[in-house]
Formats: sequence, C-alpha cells, structure tokens
Amino acid sequence: MLSPQGRGALSEAVLESMRSGKTSHLVDAPEPDGAEDAQLALWVLYEQHYRGFEDVSGELEWDPHLISVRRGLEQDFERTLRARMPEVPREGDFAETFFAFVAEHDGPSLATHVQRKATEDQVRELLRHRSIYHLKESDHTTWVIPRLSDRVKAAVMELQFDEYGDGDPNRLHAHLFRRGLADSGLDSGYGAYIDEAPLEVLEENNAMSLFGLNRRLRAASLGFLAAFEATSSGPSRRMAGGLERLGFPASMIGYYTEHVEADAVHEQLAVRTICGALLEEEPELHDDVYLGAWTSLDLEDRYAARMLKQWAA
Ligand SMILES: [Fe+2]
Ligand SMILES: [Fe+2]
Repeated sequence: MLSPQGRGALSEAVLESMRSGKTSHLVDAPEPDGAEDAQLALWVLYEQHYRGFEDVSGELEWDPHLISVRRGLEQDFERTLRARMPEVPREGDFAETFFAFVAEHDGPSLATHVQRKATEDQVRELLRHRSIYHLKESDHTTWVIPRLSDRVKAAVMELQFDEYGDGDPNRLHAHLFRRGLADSGLDSGYGAYIDEAPLEVLEENNAMSLFGLNRRLRAASLGFLAAFEATSSGPSRRMAGGLERLGFPASMIGYYTEHVEADAVHEQLAVRTICGALLEEEPELHDDVYLGAWTSLDLEDRYAARMLKQWAA
C-alpha cells in the first residue's frame, strides 16, 4: 500500500516526514485540524506496525519523533474514549452480566438495513469501508497474546487459530474477505480504500490498535474482542441475506455465512473463557474490559448512524 492523502496540517506533516524520512521537525508538529486529521495521523502511525507503506522506510517504525506524535494522539484518543463511557455493571456473574450489557445495547443496525433495503451502491460503499479492518482481520488481537497468562493466552490462540484459517491460508478470514471483494469487482488491495474511510472507520481501527499495542490496555483489547464477537453472528446472517438479495457473488456472501457459526462459538470463548479467566486472575481490570466492550459497541453505532443518515439524505 502507498501512504494515503493527508486530511489536514498534522496528518500532512506526519505523512511528509514519513515519506522523506526527515522527522526531527515533528518536535514542533502542528495541532490537528480537527478529529479526522488527528485520526488519520494516528492511523498511519499505527500502520507502521502492521504491513506499513511501500513509500515509507521500515527504519521509521520506532522513530522517536513519530512515536512521540503517536503517543500524544493516543493519549487524547484514550481520554475521549473513556469520557464517552457510561456507568458499567459491577454486580453478578461476569459472563451473564456482560452478555446482558451487550444484549441491552440498542444501536442503529447496518446489517438490518442491508438485509432489507440497502441499494447495491450502498453495500459496495460499506464493503469498501469494512475492507480497512477485514483485510487485517484479528491482527490487533494478536498484539495482546504475549501479555497474557498461559490460561488466557491458550484461549485467545484457540480463537485466533480460527480467524487465521485453522492453518489453511485460503481460509483466513482476511483472505475470505479479500476474495469476496475481488469477485464483487472491488479493489482487494490491502488498504486500497483508506482515502475514503470516514472518521468513524478510522476511530474503530485506531481503537483496536490502541488497545492491542499498549500492554496496560490488554483488558480493553479483550473486552473489545468479546463485544465484537458477541454482536457478530446475528448481523452476519442479516448481511448474508442482504448480499444474496442483491445478487452479490457467493464468496462475498460466504465471508458472512462463515461468521454466523464461527462467531456464535467465538462469543462464548471470548466472554467466558478469555475475559472471564482474565478477570478471575486480575479483577482490577474489570472496568477496562468494559471500556473495550463499550468502545466496540459505541464506535459501530457512530459509524452506522453516519451511514444511515448519509444514505437517507
Ligand atoms: Fe473473523
Ligand atoms: Fe470471530
């Protein structure tokens, strides 16, 4: 992937220094021109730790000036996410309470819209936005693995093994999505649609990286995973129905049908065996599990609300 277009003074300064390799002037980095500029800058800084950019040297992955900008943006973003959080439940059995917290959450549903009345163009736009995450599906959780006890680690590996295709490179969920994109006539290149990703998509992707790349936020990463998995099976079934209604290719539908069953298993694993075990060992991480879970639900709501409003207009 080539580095994207900037969206304001800060992301332009960051991108320019990444492409040129001259980063020292970032000591006086400009203030971001709003949230989209800040989130794009953070996204490109995080991308250095995934597949990176063809036009940026790998030498810059741990460049202290870039890391310093990233750190400032992360601190602002974490403060924002924490400020958005409601009161979280504290009583009762963790798994039952957590499932109820997710079930009682009532946000706008893109999957229901796709199932019933989305147009083909709307679905294609949705798939382009989703590609930013699905082409690196589950990678953010992999960052957390070395930070866990044996028991939690083994459970996360069981889930990740599935996400990564049970040892078959043609079964990786990221690969299934890539094939679906290509068969739908979309660009299946990694990061191909980053320039059109709206703020909410950048925030979703950045939250996953923030939680995954900071050891102290490991519980938020696993809470994010648990809420993500617990809100995936039903919506995946509705997505598959909508794609079928609109005549999308079998491989694109197959990506979603794969998740109907897989995520019905993953949600149990993620809530009970992963987060449940983590909190038995480290009960003080309780609120961070909910920080991650809330963030997953809330950022998806924000994205859904934006798209439904845009499509209604
Ligand atoms: Fe998956
Ligand atoms: Fe899953």
